[in-house]
Amino acid sequence: MKIVFSLSICLLLASCNDSGKIKDGIVEGPGTIAMHGMVVSANSEASRIGVEIMKEGGNAFDAAVATGFALAVSYPGAGNIGGGGFMVFRSADGKIDAIDYREKAPLKASRDMYIDSTGQVLMGSSTETLLASGVPGSVDGMIEVHRKYGSLPFKKVIQPAIDLAENGFYLTEGQAHSLNLSRKIFLERNRKPIAFVKDSAWKEGEILKQPDLAATLRLIRDNGRAGFYSGYTAELISKEMQRGAGLITRQDLTEYRSVWRTPLTGNYRGYRLITMSPPSSGGTTLMQLLYMIESHNVGKMGFLSAESVHLMTEAERRAFADRAFYLGDPDFVEIPLDKLLDKQYITYRMSTFSKEKASLSSETGHGKIEGYTPEETTHFSVVDGFGNAVSATTTLNGGYGNFVVVEGAGFLLNNEMDDFSIKPGFPNMFGLVGGEANSIKPGKRMLSSMTPTIIEKEGNLYMVVGSPGGSTIPTSVFQVIVNVIDFDMDIQQAVDAGRFHHQWFPDLISYEESSLDSMTIQKLDKFGHRLRKREAIGRVNAIMKLKDGTLQAGADPRGGNAATGY
Ligand code: DON
Repeated sequence: MKIVFSLSICLLLASCNDSGKIKDGIVEGPGTIAMHGMVVSANSEASRIGVEIMKEGGNAFDAAVATGFALAVSYPGAGNIGGGGFMVFRSADGKIDAIDYREKAPLKASRDMYIDSTGQVLMGSSTETLLASGVPGSVDGMIEVHRKYGSLPFKKVIQPAIDLAENGFYLTEGQAHSLNLSRKIFLERNRKPIAFVKDSAWKEGEILKQPDLAATLRLIRDNGRAGFYSGYTAELISKEMQRGAGLITRQDLTEYRSVWRTPLTGNYRGYRLITMSPPSSGGTTLMQLLYMIESHNVGKMGFLSAESVHLMTEAERRAFADRAFYLGDPDFVEIPLDKLLDKQYITYRMSTFSKEKASLSSETGHGKIEGYTPEETTHFSVVDGFGNAVSATTTLNGGYGNFVVVEGAGFLLNNEMDDFSIKPGFPNMFGLVGGEANSIKPGKRMLSSMTPTIIEKEGNLYMVVGSPGGSTIPTSVFQVIVNVIDFDMDIQQAVDAGRFHHQWFPDLISYEESSLDSMTIQKLDKFGHRLRKREAIGRVNAIMKLKDGTLQAGADPRGGNAATGY
């Protein structure tokens, strides 16, 4: 009786789950189940705002735009209007699409801009200065998404973010700690007072208000693109650049446009993958990884067994080597995508795989196409009651980007230029090396690892997934997908599970403490792998559509991620 009663309450109110909290018809918490719509993002205010928009009749696209702007306020380390990102979409009728609102190199940028006359890299210049910023894409991207797919007025969708900036929000313990840790750098890089710094240390529960950011968001609300890329905001950005010898000009801003791209699609064990195409490497790498393990019975090998970790590591080694050589901005370089994702090419790439011996990265270059025939980013996932799905990853690159708040405009600038290969073979902040395909050119987009992904099962929406984590993004998404499809986990278990990562160079497996046990480590060591324990790998926010049509959240316990549904 009690079970029947609580079940009907769940159905009436919207949703429920052992770990979920229900309030005003909204359910929150990791693993929670919702009937109508859901947002899983890095911040509870932002997830709530997305769900409120859906409750007011908005679709998943409206909710994604509202969540994106809200994250720019309540998750300043990575949510942004001064950065860029990618979104992958699947509409209720099965139509798919993707948008690239990645930053671009300013027109004054040049190939060797981070190298001195002796050929040495100018340390920090691609990460810590105004020269590190690419032309921001987020505002144009979100406006475009709303224009093409939104159903509520734009003003309504952006308003909650404006209110959040104006009235403030309660800092979590983690946010207070992070702002306190960043205080010194904020003070060094900004000459005027900024919202993120006050005289005393921040404490959990204190309210952070951002009036300058609210004013900028109001300009965007009232003027659309022009509220950011021309007029007052553009003037403030350009003044900031002049103060710090940055390169972004008014022309860069007026010329910036996000690009609608065709998502990559493929199949893994009968599931359809819909993921991001270049200039993110994420989707290409993810698909190569899945294809490289597909001919093996991974489920039988065992979850986090030496055999499955070894196989997945060897796939990662090869896919990251291809990434470094072949991938870059498709508007500037020719990418042999069809070949890289051809299953016969994948078989050839894995032909050097040995079940009991690690390959050496120094001896594993990129695959030969010629002559071969046949610490912040943030991800959020949204599904609405109509069945539309959005998978969105956005970033400033490093946490708080280059720490520079545009004076008077209240938003942080990205340090995304470091994602270019600033010198062939020189590792970026994630240790990734790259080549000519990802060299700097004016107006070019830097290669990304962001992997917003949607999966279909038997023609229906099944899963929305993505992660932050720099180079570990594709592997985090890869492992969550494998956990669900091969190891039969539910989405929350799949997200919670320990992770490991290999990226070709450095030639080692990094792993979370919770992932590999000592026996497995010993075995992998015997195979010839080098291993190193590290902090959390990725922070996946996912949603799975269950057989009965309800939505289950997979909110990563690594960090304060928040699932909200109704
Ligand atoms: O686009 C990229 O691949 C990087 N800029 C992402 C940076 C990132 O994920 C940082 N942190 N978690």
